[in-house]
Amino acid sequence: MTRRIVRTACQLAALTFCSIIVVYFLDNRFRVLPSAIHNVMPAHHPGLVITDITVTRCSSVNLISSCKLDPEIWHRVEKDLFLGSGWVSSAYVHVQRKKEEELLAEDKVIVDIKVGRLDPSSGQKGEENARWESRPGGLWLKRSAKRHASDDSRAITAVDVLFGADAVDPRPAWETVDRPLLLDVKGEIHEARISVRRGKPAAPAKGVPRIRDNGKFKIMQLADIHLSTGTGNCRDPEPADFDSGMCEADTRTLDFIARLMDEEKPDLVVLSGDQVNGETAPDAQSAIFKYAEMLVKRKIPYASIFGNHDDEGSLPRAQQMELIETLPYSISSAGPEDIDGVGNYVVEVLASGASKHSALTLYLLDTHAYSPDEHAYKGYDWLKKNQIDWFKQKADSLKKAHEGYTHIHMDLAFIHIPLPEYRDESLPRVGKWREGVTAPGFNSGFRDALVEKGVVMVSCGHDHANEYCSLSPNESGNPALWMCYGGGAGFGGYGGYGGYHRRVRFFEVDMNEARITTYKRIEHGTAAQLAERIDDQIIVEGGKAKGL
Ligand SMILES: *[C@@H]1O[C@H](CO)[C@@H](O)[C@H](O)[C@H]1NC(C)=O
Repeated sequence: MTRRIVRTACQLAALTFCSIIVVYFLDNRFRVLPSAIHNVMPAHHPGLVITDITVTRCSSVNLISSCKLDPEIWHRVEKDLFLGSGWVSSAYVHVQRKKEEELLAEDKVIVDIKVGRLDPSSGQKGEENARWESRPGGLWLKRSAKRHASDDSRAITAVDVLFGADAVDPRPAWETVDRPLLLDVKGEIHEARISVRRGKPAAPAKGVPRIRDNGKFKIMQLADIHLSTGTGNCRDPEPADFDSGMCEADTRTLDFIARLMDEEKPDLVVLSGDQVNGETAPDAQSAIFKYAEMLVKRKIPYASIFGNHDDEGSLPRAQQMELIETLPYSISSAGPEDIDGVGNYVVEVLASGASKHSALTLYLLDTHAYSPDEHAYKGYDWLKKNQIDWFKQKADSLKKAHEGYTHIHMDLAFIHIPLPEYRDESLPRVGKWREGVTAPGFNSGFRDALVEKGVVMVSCGHDHANEYCSLSPNESGNPALWMCYGGGAGFGGYGGYGGYHRRVRFFEVDMNEARITTYKRIEHGTAAQLAERIDDQIIVEGGKAKGL
């Protein structure tokens, strides 16, 4: 739509005026990519094979040049290879595809793909008589006649585009070509990489969280990892002199997280929002894939909800969730369509062994982004009545089933933006309060609903430098609800406040005692140094919130 507006405006306006408009719209596209919004993923139809791939380039200033080849023949992967940042150029990957059963004897299918300046076959002995064919952008294709049945598992059946030097593809049978397309782009963020799927689409592995045989279960909360398209820039890194001051945000964030995953071996990871640093993620898919790949590789189930920054890049919440839902080990869900937000859902952690009973229930809710009524309530949005009603109904409907569990069943909740009650400085707490609590100005009553339904702990993210748990009492003054912060883990998000070290919160659940212990692990920069564990505390004992 943006492009049509530009074009119409240009046809009406004088040429000099026109180019100003073009530049203005191009600049805007960096933030919100219309092409990506209209078509999140290329349609990966089952039963299709790719018979040709090419890269087309067009001018954004010359209004006659088009980036779309004949749609009867070519399917366009809807991602501008310049990510909308090219002042004068756009470029797209196009593929030809055919239904497998419609392939003729003379049709060829792509069995290998490479990127580089030189013909990959030069210096090699004539392998299968297949020659590498050149395409624009440094692309080389090896095509083979379909009659070679042996090519079935090698045949490329879907093509996608990812960006950045650290691009990875966690989808089953997908692989990212190791070198970026040869386009004259500046900066590694814009390195466009082809990702391909080989063979028939495989169903993603399912993540089923379950209490271990020893009755224990560990949850790792990743709060505000702020990943970018590309390796990103560190904000307020602490310590700053680590690695001779060279700081790639996502490299450092992911290294830290990987190390903790390997040491702590969590059974479930909750990503509590702001996984994607929208402003520096013109391709949100590339950012999401980075965290997903680490979890898929380690076979750890994960549940994601969104923060205020996730959808400030190329993809709205609904389309991000559509993508995340299809990834291996993801147990994330968009939730019911008729209530506000995307990602209001329940995760049931099953009892140990082969039990079908739930031992632990996690309620995850979308806390949205900015206030819809800035005049009356400054700052951030709040949980809506229909979400709170959904939560209460859900809790009621699950009550009977949960009572069937042989031990004490427990309920926890995760959100992104803190609740207004986090502001209460008089509450007992463990951990640091470093910055103003940016809870919404309007209190829609979620804390009361949590207490009413017996949820013993809620944890949020959002305020990176706050990392305390405070205890909210019930009406008779008894411990009722622990309200925790995860503590910001990502170097692409702000730190500061007197030298905040990135950290990650863990919850260790012991079903034998209906006990929950929480602690944090801190990034000190030096790989050799222990990632210190601090603020160990038991927050739940015998299934009830425990006082200090
Ligand atoms: C407060 O919590 C205590 C301990 O769990 C419980 O016995 C009591 O009934 C609660 N009071 C109210 C008013 O909910």
